[in-house]
Amino acid sequence: MHSFTLLRSSWLWYIVQENLKAIYHMQAAYSPDYEITLRRRENMLFFKRWLKNPSQMGTLAPVTPSLARLAANLVENPSDLIVELGAGTGRVTRALLAQGVKPQNLVLVELDHELCVFLKETLKDLPECKDSMPHIIEGDATRLAEIIPESFKGNVATVVSAIPFMYIPPIAREKIVQSSFDVLKPAGSILHITYNPKSPLAFKKDLNQERVGKLWFNVPPGFVWRYQQGWPS
Ligand SMILES: C[S@@+](CC[C@H](N)C(=O)[O-])C[C@H]1O[C@@H](n2cnc3c(N)ncnc32)[C@H](O)[C@@H]1O
Repeated sequence: MHSFTLLRSSWLWYIVQENLKAIYHMQAAYSPDYEITLRRRENMLFFKRWLKNPSQMGTLAPVTPSLARLAANLVENPSDLIVELGAGTGRVTRALLAQGVKPQNLVLVELDHELCVFLKETLKDLPECKDSMPHIIEGDATRLAEIIPESFKGNVATVVSAIPFMYIPPIAREKIVQSSFDVLKPAGSILHITYNPKSPLAFKKDLNQERVGKLWFNVPPGFVWRYQQGWPS
């Protein structure tokens, strides 16, 4: 079988399994019903958006809750200003909020209109968003420095990204990295979530690059890279 077809079928099997698990848990008395139902809706919507635009979405399903938590735990100070690029259905967003990031200190950038509508609709139900909502910007991460609220410019501590770098053209990838450093404060960093054990920005020799998180038993294995400006020592 063609390797792409194989990959698609294994991902399809993953989605089916996830949804069966969700249905099972919805019926279990102990389950947190809201989160489980939400995950099922997320998986469905994400898959639909992937069918529409596979390279923009990068994967068939949102990151797993454990990978989202791993990335959120790597944010050093939750009271800082944080930007999330490619917020998708909000799985990483929810992990960031659960970690203590304040909604008013969080900017979400997402290119897809339907995903932005979903983010607005679902985040407002969270207890963390009772008093305020994250800034949800429907826009292109290549233009981050232009679309972010003025008060964030140069003051952001961490840009959390799940943009599928390996599927986007090198010029756009370069612009996203540059735009991120334009809004970060001097010691700020990019935390990048990927299924690639190797750095997707390995070619950028002017960045300090460190793999700060790994989940080998995730399906598929997931990794978090930290990028900071400055020549590696
Ligand atoms: C792999 S998904 C990650 C979704 C999400 N963070 C999660 O919890 O799984 C990548 C997301 O990046 C978004 N995206 C891709 N290119 C983008 C760009 N240039 N600007 C903003 N969002 C982008 C896609 O629409 C998609 O929602």
